Amino acid sequence: MAQERILVVEDDSSMSFFLSEAMRKEGYRVEGVPSGEEALEKITQDRFNLVILDLKLPSMDGMEVLANIKVTNPEMAVIMITAHGSKDIALEAIRKGAYDYFSKPFDINEMRVVVKRALEREHLQDELRQLRETVEKRKGFYNIVGTSKGMREVFDMAETVFDNDITVLITGESGTGKELIAEAIHYNSPRRAKPFVKLNCVAIPETLLESELFGYDKGAFTGATSQKPGKFELANQGTLLLDEIGDMTLATQAKLLRVLQEREVERVGGVKPIKVDVRIIASTNQDLSQLVREQHFREDLYFRLNVLPIHLPSLRDRREDIPLLVDHFVSLSRTRFHKDIEEVSEDAMDLLINYSWPGNVRELENVVQRAIILAKERVIQEWNLPPEIRKQRKEAHFDIEKLETDLPLNEKVEMIVAEGEKRLIIQALDEVGWKRERAASVLGTSLKTLYNKMKMYGLFDQSS
Ligand SMILES: Nc1ncnc2c1ncn2[C@@H]1O[C@H](COP(=O)(O)OP(=O)(O)OP(=O)(O)O)[C@@H](O)[C@H]1O
Ligand SMILES: [Mg+2]
Repeated sequence: MAQERILVVEDDSSMSFFLSEAMRKEGYRVEGVPSGEEALEKITQDRFNLVILDLKLPSMDGMEVLANIKVTNPEMAVIMITAHGSKDIALEAIRKGAYDYFSKPFDINEMRVVVKRALEREHLQDELRQLRETVEKRKGFYNIVGTSKGMREVFDMAETVFDNDITVLITGESGTGKELIAEAIHYNSPRRAKPFVKLNCVAIPETLLESELFGYDKGAFTGATSQKPGKFELANQGTLLLDEIGDMTLATQAKLLRVLQEREVERVGGVKPIKVDVRIIASTNQDLSQLVREQHFREDLYFRLNVLPIHLPSLRDRREDIPLLVDHFVSLSRTRFHKDIEEVSEDAMDLLINYSWPGNVRELENVVQRAIILAKERVIQEWNLPPEIRKQRKEAHFDIEKLETDLPLNEKVEMIVAEGEKRLIIQALDEVGWKRERAASVLGTSLKTLYNKMKMYGLFDQSS
């Protein structure tokens, strides 16, 4: 822990020295000033944890200094020193927010104890403040990017269940942000301070899924040497996210339905049911109603879960969100990779916007992260993107809009030729792993010509 800092405000120099020394011996960093004005100046310049303040000071008196501190640094602990027998004034100081007071002459040991206690309280308040800030940050959808109509509808729907316990079914393709929305609902609900528990129902064998959900008691099966609470119990008073619910077998579905109806769980091998109070959010990338029709999913469970459906649109259906998401992931990378990417080239952004994104936002996030790691300069270029995204280029047409200038035809043609040449060179370099000699021979040109063209088209930062 950093050394704690105390400011002693006292015009009597021997008293100031005595106090400062006593506090230094306790391991604090101490500074002393002889007037209220200087004290206030110090406090605005530096961060102190505590102030010991004499009431009687030359021009601005201690009470005024106290009032000032309480406006600018309301959380700071202030200990007042008053003259002998001035109890009324001391009490007034307490009313104005002083932590405690001492009347001269005082016992320095007592002062030590009080200072220590005040600093401990300050720590607690600090922690509380940080906690409160993280909770505040959670408010709303601060970490979920999107302004498209589809996403605005998602936010609107999700908001309607912030203040209640309604069961929510979140659907959408893989990587569209289902889990993020589930988290947002939990952290904005009255259950936010209680657990948010996730269980992925996919790829868990049926017997295991049951004990994961409902827990087991000692001796329930071979190997059950002790008891274990299930996710329902762990999520008590909080929220349980049942991820990929479409993969649950019919037998487990029946048991889940029972829990939802009875609001109690029975551990595997358990004797008596346990009451649980859990808000359920289910999510799936499958079409549950289709599964119901195919009799792979219980209709009664479907109705119970599908009280409020929220559907997350695929990324390809809200391409206008792509630049925002790219920005978001680039700025996250500043802290994650310690790399300052300033921009994404126009060509690269075009490719990102036009790609089909089968893996949705998760895929975009991975692509951007990879590009950030690969980028040599502070710009993400098209060759920092994976081949499946760049492939579109080969099929792409020339952008007619870019050509609608007053340029004469021959210059337009030159532009197209240059663009075509650049793409051809990039493609050749790509195919031979950016080995220039081989690319030159593939292209049927000299190394020198290739070098000059690469320079002309700014293709150096990724190969050098
Ligand atoms: N709108 C968004 N804004 C910012 N990040 C997003 C957004 N949507 C998704 N992500 C990010 O994409 C990744 C995938 O999101 P999430 O896990 O919520 O998707 P999912 O729909 O649950 O996927 P799966 O079906 O594969 O479980 C996460 O890293 C998440 O932070
Ligand atoms: Mg998920």
